[in-house]
Amino acid sequence: MKIMITGAHGMLGRTLTRRLKEHELLGVDIDHFDITNPNAVREAVSRFSPETVIHCAAMTAVDDCQTNEDAAWDVNVNGTANIADACESVGAKLIAISTDYVFSGDSDRPYNELDTTGPHTVYGMTKMLGEMAAVKYCPNSTIVRIAWLYGPGGPSFVHTMMRLAKEGISPLKVVDDQIGNPTSTEAVADHIKLLLKHPEITGPVHLTCEGHATWCQFAAEIFRLIGSDCVPLPCSTSEFQRPAPRPANSQLDNTMLNKHNIPPMPHWRRALEEFFQENPNG
Ligand SMILES: NC(=O)c1ccc[n+]([C@@H]2O[C@H](COP(=O)([O-])OP(=O)(O)OC[C@H]3O[C@@H](n4cnc5c(N)ncnc54)[C@H](OP(=O)(O)O)[C@@H]3O)[C@@H](O)[C@H]2O)c1
Repeated sequence: MKIMITGAHGMLGRTLTRRLKEHELLGVDIDHFDITNPNAVREAVSRFSPETVIHCAAMTAVDDCQTNEDAAWDVNVNGTANIADACESVGAKLIAISTDYVFSGDSDRPYNELDTTGPHTVYGMTKMLGEMAAVKYCPNSTIVRIAWLYGPGGPSFVHTMMRLAKEGISPLKVVDDQIGNPTSTEAVADHIKLLLKHPEITGPVHLTCEGHATWCQFAAEIFRLIGSDCVPLPCSTSEFQRPAPRPANSQLDNTMLNKHNIPPMPHWRRALEEFFQENPNG
């Protein structure tokens, strides 16, 4: 299959580029063209004429989005609309990567694909509008929502914890009142490969690892696996004031995988163990 990956130099894009080698791939990033430039996007997409575009490019720094709303809108909303419009013009399928931040995080149960969105942050709002733009301009779109992502090279929570452990900071205060599904880029790539075999699936599909943890529990498992004696000290969100509020509940329920008889994602503890086996230095 001819596949274009946007954001190919980013954390997920790098893993996808490595894992989809059996396809005819074109990985693109900001140094090839800016997704906010509609003419450049159309020209690049029509020249390569992909069958599928996996759209990873985004403004992903949550706090920067909060303080630079215009840039976040331009990249996450207009940029995604440009990609979707270009996909439609060449008849390509769009797999647009999105996030748990489209939900409010106020629910007391995991969010499934049919739950109503309601973001509390600029990042979440722009990603939600990006989802809507994807479907509007390219009806043949699958919206893949992921969360709490880590992958080779980072940056991610795993890499931050590894660095702090190396610096010998212990005990280390880690937030224990936010819950989510730690998810590896490898597990996401495996399941995107499965989704490529199901072109009939459109709309939102959640792809997070099974099981859940708080950041503090996630940190404890990271320290255990890297053999660090760093002690995570549970603390509350209010002790870490940040420009953008973090969702209390980021858990996603992968209902659509089940509905389409696609195997479940691996448990987060297994995925994390495999990550360290393959990437001992992160
Ligand atoms: N990381 C997470 O925890 C997480 C969680 C849930 C969902 N997601 C979603 O997953 C996707 C991939 O995330 P990631 O962590 O791999 O992101 P990332 O590492 O930040 O990669 C995004 C890439 O997009 C590029 N980019 C930014 N603006 C662009 C523009 N205007 N034109 C072209 N390229 C542009 C970035 O270049 P620069 O680096 O030069 O800006 C970067 O290489 C994103 O859609 C994100 O919203 C991520």
